Parts: sequence; C-alpha cells; structure tokens
Amino acid sequence: METTDLEAFLSRAKALCVLTGSGISQESGIPTFRGNDGLWKQYRAEVLATPGAFARDPKLVWEWYAWRREIIHRAQPNAAHQALVELEAEFSARPGGRFALLTQNVDGLHERAGTGNLIRLHGDIWRLRCTGCGAERQDYSVPLDRLPPHCSFCFSLLRPAVVWFGESLPQEEWARAADVSASADLFLVIGTSALVQPAASLPLLAKQNGGLLIEINPAPTPLSGLADLAIRGKAAEVLGGLSSRIPDA
Ligand code: APR
Repeated sequence: METTDLEAFLSRAKALCVLTGSGISQESGIPTFRGNDGLWKQYRAEVLATPGAFARDPKLVWEWYAWRREIIHRAQPNAAHQALVELEAEFSARPGGRFALLTQNVDGLHERAGTGNLIRLHGDIWRLRCTGCGAERQDYSVPLDRLPPHCSFCFSLLRPAVVWFGESLPQEEWARAADVSASADLFLVIGTSALVQPAASLPLLAKQNGGLLIEINPAPTPLSGLADLAIRGKAAEVLGGLSSRIPDA
C-alpha cells in the first residue's frame, strides 16, 4: 500500500530532492555506521574519523580507509541506486521538472550507477587531498601501493578528501544543497539515521518551505514523525523497478 502512495506522490511532484545515507548502500554489502553491524559499533569514530586521529596516527586511519575502499571496490550499485538514476531521467524530462541528489555517502555508488546531478556533502573516499599543498586527485587503486600515501609534488601526507567529525562541509556543496532542499516540492530521505548535522536539517528546510517529505528506512528516525509518508522498508526492495510503476503525471 505504502509504495503505491510513493508512486502517487512522485507522479504529482515537479522538483524532487533526494537525500541518501549509508543505508542505501547496505544492500550492496557496505556496512552502515550505526546499525547493529555498523562501523561505529566496531570502531570509535573519534579514533578514526577526526583530524586529531589522523594527526596522531595517519597510518591507522589510512588502514581503516583502505579497508573500506576494498569493501566498496567489491560492491555494486543496487536497485535503489539504479531507481534514482531512472527518477533523475524521469524528472529531467518532465515539463518544469527538477531533480537533485544529495548524498552523505562517500562510496561513489551513485556515480557508478550513473547519477548526474549529485551533491556530495561528505566528500569522496576515492579522492585524495595533500595536507601540505592542497593538491587533490582521484585515486581508485585497491590496495593503495603504500600507507600512508604521500604527495608526489611536495611529499606531504595525503588524506582522504572526506569530511571528518569537527570539520565543516564544503561550502559550495552546502549552499547548493540548501537551495535545492528549500525549493523542493517533494523531498525523499533514504537510508539515513538523520542524526548528523547539518545534513539532517535539509529535510526540515524542505518541510518549512511547503515541501512534502517521504522517508524510506526499515527503522524509525527523528524525521519519521515529520514525514508525510514513512515507508518502513529496505531501499532496494522499495525502490526496485519504481520508475516503471509511476503513473503518468
Ligand atoms: N535500506 C534503507 N535504509 C537502511 C537499510 C536499507 N537496506 N539498512 C539500514 N538502513 C538505515 C538504518 O535504519 C539507519 O537509519 O540506514 C540508516 C543508516 O544510518 P547511519 O549508519 O547512521 O548512517 P548515516 O545516516 O549515513 O550516517 C550519517 O554519519 O558517520 C557519519 O559521515 C558519516 O555520512 C555519515 C553520517
């Protein structure tokens, strides 16, 4: 029943904004952070995902990111990632239609699935940044040839170009994300515990500006009570084959 409502909401919307979290990649075999098997259950975030941790022990932090890169390297985008690619095409073809995908994920699965208009709020695990000269480059090597990696220009340490706890989100991405959230008439939140700011405030921005909110998550979150439709389900199960089920606008 609930997914029929989802299709009805989607058929009537013009400006769709989607926010994803690690839950959308869970069915691809990538662990989430706070679930029962989550990364933060096995590791302490402040030991691995902060500037201080990296300053204290860059090799340990890089061993953890190299391990995550290997898991992600073996993973494939799932039916939920694919459904968002199809929704992007559907909304881009719709008269007055707009689509934006905001992700907290750094795994690159939305890009591999083919999403075009993607705003990465927390960076990219496949991008390295020099702590000395600031040079950045994509690096998909698995395994990395040496840990921790060093800059080939200035020989300083390279770090993952991701946002760590205590760091600000990239300003340009945040400004774009706030803009598309405030102007969305339908906001779809998929696979996030909605506990980490400021990303978790984006759905509220949509609601405050009259947008409708739909949540897809097997478990309740702080957003569930605000959702116009809360679908208790797994992303790939709920979204698989969706675009073929959306009635013509
Ligand atoms: N489909 C949809 N949702 C799922 C699935 C699934 N198959 N499996 C789990 N979930 C949900 C969980 O119920 C949970 O609400 O995904 C959510 C994952 O929450 P977190 O593990 O907290 O991940 P996320 O919300 O992405 O974390 C936000 O915190 O650690 C930082 O920077 C990191 O971007 C991350 C941010």
